[in-house]
Amino acid sequence: MSTSAELLATGQQYYLPVYKPREVILEHGQGARVWDHEGREYIDLSAGIAVCGLGHNDPDLVAALTEQAGKLWHTSNVFYSEPPLRLAEELVVASRFASRVFLCNSGAEANEAAIKLIRKWATAQGRAPDRRVIVTFRGSFHGRTMATVTATAQPKYQEGYEPLPGGFRYVDFNDFGQLEQAMADGDVAAVLVEPIQGEGGVMPAAEGFLRGVRELCDRHGALLALDEIQCGMGRTGTLFAHWQDGVVPDIVTLAKALGGGFPIGAMLAGPKVAETMQFGAHGTTFGGNPLAAAVARVALRKLASEEIAANVVKQSTALRDGLAAINGELQLFSQVRGRGLMLGAVLKPEYAGRAGEILDHAAANGLLLLQAGPDVLRFVPALNISDEEIAEGLRRLHAALHAFVA
Ligand SMILES: Cc1ncc(COP(=O)(O)O)c(C=O)c1O
Repeated sequence: MSTSAELLATGQQYYLPVYKPREVILEHGQGARVWDHEGREYIDLSAGIAVCGLGHNDPDLVAALTEQAGKLWHTSNVFYSEPPLRLAEELVVASRFASRVFLCNSGAEANEAAIKLIRKWATAQGRAPDRRVIVTFRGSFHGRTMATVTATAQPKYQEGYEPLPGGFRYVDFNDFGQLEQAMADGDVAAVLVEPIQGEGGVMPAAEGFLRGVRELCDRHGALLALDEIQCGMGRTGTLFAHWQDGVVPDIVTLAKALGGGFPIGAMLAGPKVAETMQFGAHGTTFGGNPLAAAVARVALRKLASEEIAANVVKQSTALRDGLAAINGELQLFSQVRGRGLMLGAVLKPEYAGRAGEILDHAAANGLLLLQAGPDVLRFVPALNISDEEIAEGLRRLHAALHAFVA
């Protein structure tokens, strides 16, 4: 058996060095616990960046995958198969707004499809190319393809990749006045927004902001596209985060937790845009793969359950209370923000930029944690995490933060 050191050296030699993972080789998982190559056990409050909504090794997901694996793996989109057909139907019903679904393999692809749909729709409206602008928000994250990284209004992801595709305009998140100005010319085809910015520091849309955006879009004949890739699939306590904001979108994108850890993405299109892309307008070889769709159908059913919604509310309170207690003692955070099981603990200015160090202490104390930028600790555990796993995670966090301040 290879040692951890050998495996780490292999990764460092052969991977394109675009990632810098913590030096832990994870081997297997159960619920919100994972074990590494050396047999060390961790509480996982990261869920693979908000992906494993049902934790690791969920028996129903394993059963769906293995059953489908024995039947049919792939047909491409020149033939039908049942799992993606059913998944599309179930997503439409669950969404309460969509008429049609495009299945793909990742978040970036779902947003890429949304961007292309917006442009096609604006074209069909007879708008000139310079009047097909898409507005996005500073601090957003929409993916790494050329169009989605351009939609991602953060220079650090864009630098060196110029020339970037045109037709994007950026405004400050939660700044309604700026958005009004940015849309005043009537050249905006759509606003693309995360109801809670994930990578941008777990920053929720302000109360009423999305309703205001919807009204502006209606006033200017623009579409509202919501990126729920990180905040969707039950994470905030409702299947879709925007249900709590009281808006009806035209487009929603999903990925991450949709497949419970199996790669899949989806773009949901409402009635205004559902017929815009016709035969040949878009496509992908693997999108709607039967294996991914079979797993996603079960993930969707379970993540939409009342049981999950209730657990999200319960564990969110437990996590917030635990963080408040730790902070009462150590005074590390200026605030804890977010909704449901998408929480961010913002480091006080004196600890700014040091989230990565805390993650190292966490791993050393048997806890897998994420950051959202250099100043925010991000908590996005499995939505079915137990009382005991949360309590143990908080104990280990307390130990890690003690070591950090020592
Ligand atoms: C809100 C949001 N949109 C899009 C993406 C891109 O998804 P993927 O990495 O699957 O391409 C992410 C990934 O972190 C995300 O958080």
